[in-house]
Amino acid sequence: MPFKTVQTTPIDGQKPGTSGLRKKTAQFRVPGYLENFVQCIFDGTGGAAGKTYVVGGDGRFFNAEAIGIIIRMAAANGAARLIIGQNGILSTPAASNLIRKYKTDGGIILSASHNPGGENGDFGVKFNASNGGPAPEKITDAIYLKTTEITDYKIAEEDAGDIGTIGSFTMGDCRIDVIDPVDDYETLMQDLFDFEAIRTLFQNGFRICFDAMHAVTGPYATRILEDALGAPKGSVINAVPSPDFGGGHPDPNPVWASELVAIMSGTDAPDFGAASDGDGDRNMIMGKNAFVSPSDSLALLTAYAHLAPAYAGKVAGVARSMPTSQAVDLVAERLRIPCFETPTGWKFFGNLLDAGMATLCGEESAGTGSSHIREKDGLWAVLLWLNILARDGRDIVQLRADHWRSFGRNYYSRHDYEEIPTEAAEALVSALREKLAALPGQSVAGMEISAADDFAYLDPIDQSLTERQGIRVSFTDGSRLVMRLSGTGTQGATLRVYLERFVDHSGDHTQDLQAALGPVIAAAESLADITKHTGRSVADVIT
Ligand code: G1P
Ligand code: ZN
Repeated sequence: MPFKTVQTTPIDGQKPGTSGLRKKTAQFRVPGYLENFVQCIFDGTGGAAGKTYVVGGDGRFFNAEAIGIIIRMAAANGAARLIIGQNGILSTPAASNLIRKYKTDGGIILSASHNPGGENGDFGVKFNASNGGPAPEKITDAIYLKTTEITDYKIAEEDAGDIGTIGSFTMGDCRIDVIDPVDDYETLMQDLFDFEAIRTLFQNGFRICFDAMHAVTGPYATRILEDALGAPKGSVINAVPSPDFGGGHPDPNPVWASELVAIMSGTDAPDFGAASDGDGDRNMIMGKNAFVSPSDSLALLTAYAHLAPAYAGKVAGVARSMPTSQAVDLVAERLRIPCFETPTGWKFFGNLLDAGMATLCGEESAGTGSSHIREKDGLWAVLLWLNILARDGRDIVQLRADHWRSFGRNYYSRHDYEEIPTEAAEALVSALREKLAALPGQSVAGMEISAADDFAYLDPIDQSLTERQGIRVSFTDGSRLVMRLSGTGTQGATLRVYLERFVDHSGDHTQDLQAALGPVIAAAESLADITKHTGRSVADVIT
């Protein structure tokens, strides 16, 4: 098997962000761009010689070609074995499971998550470590350093073998195993949940609509929900993955999953609605005519996780990203379990999960997961919900109303200002940062500020300190305002404004969401001069 060494030079901007290296697809297709980065993944993690990796992606445009390049480079770098999903398909959670189950050295996941795909869309490459989770910063920093020093990369001269057929082939000394992408994941879900109870739920006429958004969860949801659990055929919609996600935006929120929202608001709406994103790690949950915010979903799942076999008496703690609402904190307090607040990005949950300190984790951005893998997991969240509803008996909307009646409601919304000039975004953040120390005690929009800081996280396990993770302003009534810049955008800067207003258990939980948030929205404008800095009077995306 002839291998060659190709001379190259460093390419600017190959610094992994919140979730790997994410760029325009066209950028990744520039010859040498992907090759440089893949070589640096190997070089930054002690070389590929003798190692085993899981490789797969969400099926977006360029997925299969990129996997061909990775196979040729892994073989040329001396890797012993690759485990690849058939046709290059693996959801992010399925890849995380395979990395752990087969005790591999890590995995390379190709996805730009919920960003649009296609020739003019986005592409991404993420390295996951041997625990199955996104590489922690010390690894991504080492990879990045290599990208600034690289002089050559190694690649097989021949094309890679056929990844469309289940089976094995070799390239030099490297064995490539092409496996069914769903099998191992389905087995894991069977181990966690009461499939019998969920089957009975469907037999009794319970109806679900799962929108796979033309993305990777189509085959997973069809096999598990329809084939294994007996949901009627057609319960999974947009089930065939397409390279450009059917021209859509595979982001499961009320704006982009509008087809699901329309179905769930119709006269004959199913009992339960859900959607997942490009690579299958996010989830959106709906009841009839009701969107369950991801922050509320995390709180409710924590409150009722004991109804699922894997979690009964086993929830040691819970963790949420800092911008996620404080609804789950109230549940944790009542359950007398710790609640950790981490920076944005799933990688920060890894140490807590590995140490057994957190069992359930979640982010406001439609990410929920548990210690079963080291990624968030869209279909897992749907199955935990179905397990809970099957065992509890109440309708999801009723369950949530009862929850608010007991804990109070954290009204919550995120306002995104997209593609704003980087300098304008940075000016806004630094001006706000300057003001922070003087804010406590001041009143704004009729609310008194109790605390204000730029969030810093001291990891309780490895003592690493991560600073400047977003500005948070808390009010004495339990409401809160958070602002940070996105780490996953590929064009300009995205300002995220996270708004939370707390109304206690005896208050009105039926207000219009944006109206209820009125004072917090006004406080955001008054403290950060958003209109002045961005030139926009309303957010581009409100979720
Ligand atoms: C976004 C979400 C964050 C999530 C990440 C990767 O990152 O806000 O919660 O972990 O995508 O899916 P951001 O663009 O805000 O940096
Ligand atoms: Zn994703």
